[in-house]
Amino acid sequence: AVHRIAVIPGDGIGREVVPEGLRSVRRAAEIFGIELESEQFDFASVDYWQQHGTMLPDDWFEVLRGFDAIFFGAVGWPAVVPDHVSLWGSLIQFRRRFDQYVNLRPVRLLPGVPAPLADRAPGDIDFVVVRENTEGEYSSIGGRIFDGTDRETVVQETVMTRTGVDRIVDFAFQLAQRRGGHLTSATKSNGISITMPYWDERVAALAENYPDITVDKFHIDILAAHFVLHPDWFDVVVASNLFGDILSDLGPACTGTIGVAPSGNINPTGEFPSLFEPVHGSAPDIAGRGIANPIGQIWAGSLMLDHLGHPEAAAAIVAAVERVLDRGDLRTPDLGGTASCEELGTAIAEAIAK
Ligand code: NAI
Ligand code: MG
Repeated sequence: AVHRIAVIPGDGIGREVVPEGLRSVRRAAEIFGIELESEQFDFASVDYWQQHGTMLPDDWFEVLRGFDAIFFGAVGWPAVVPDHVSLWGSLIQFRRRFDQYVNLRPVRLLPGVPAPLADRAPGDIDFVVVRENTEGEYSSIGGRIFDGTDRETVVQETVMTRTGVDRIVDFAFQLAQRRGGHLTSATKSNGISITMPYWDERVAALAENYPDITVDKFHIDILAAHFVLHPDWFDVVVASNLFGDILSDLGPACTGTIGVAPSGNINPTGEFPSLFEPVHGSAPDIAGRGIANPIGQIWAGSLMLDHLGHPEAAAAIVAAVERVLDRGDLRTPDLGGTASCEELGTAIAEAIAK
């Protein structure tokens, strides 16, 4: 079957790295005989907002839901539109309306990329953060009380539902089964005394269905410390929305640069399209100079092909990334080199092989 991909470059370096991501995805598709069709959209960008006063057209849901996947760059340009407007008006709508309840973020030390905090070899850091992506701490329930008075009080509730917690934890158990058989849960039940004990309870309840998986849990504060000091302890890490957000930037940071990190926003039921993007944002500080690292976007393309049922093509892209980095002569400035986004992207696409 032909896979239909919606391509949304967004803002800033999103527009520079998306073409490089597509270059590798198309090359892998060609080599592995995968049929792809893509259509590009200019919404979910600050340019679109300046022309239309909204981030998305009214019919975005109907337009995008017919695609098999969304290949997304980055959105946001804080000098023009506040981030809560651009992000809530686009990406967060996609995640919620398409019920992309899993945010999957592989963390892996790539060859030839020095780990910033300790001398480590690639095998030492290889884990996946599974972040709950639709509820938890990121709720719209709350408000300002006694607004504007000296008793001004602000409340924002955390929402956890049985369905919401169970489905993310179950996804993480299944992933642990396919990987190293080890699941770590991020908690804070000593301080957050209602929702986090519930989270722990559901992890323990679901663990009974997976007797072969080793389960452990850490409070988020010490877990963050362990990410830095003992990244080799982890295989699959499951976390609520906020904790997962923090861990999934910290993890890639421990592997040298967030420029290489990918992310999948996944609707595991397949009812709606899943969205694949780099972890990083639009990087206004380097946008327009052609020096962004394209690897996060290229690796996101690999996650997309894996999700569409092509694990060999996905693995071939990651292998090409590793081969080019290992060669050592082609690096973007964030990796200490002088290569351009396009040079690195082209070299990786050319290195893809069966
Ligand atoms: P950012 O990820 O855009 O940049 C953080 C730092 O990392 C910058 O110094 C940047 O130059 C560097 N960097 C990021 N990606 C890189 C790459 N591929 N190669 C080399 N260096 C790279 O985060 P920031 O500055 O906090 O946000 C900028 C804008 O992006 C904001 O509007 C923010 O809301 C948005 N954003 C959007 C995301 C998305 O679309 N999923 C995710 C994160 C931020
Ligand atoms: Mg984040």
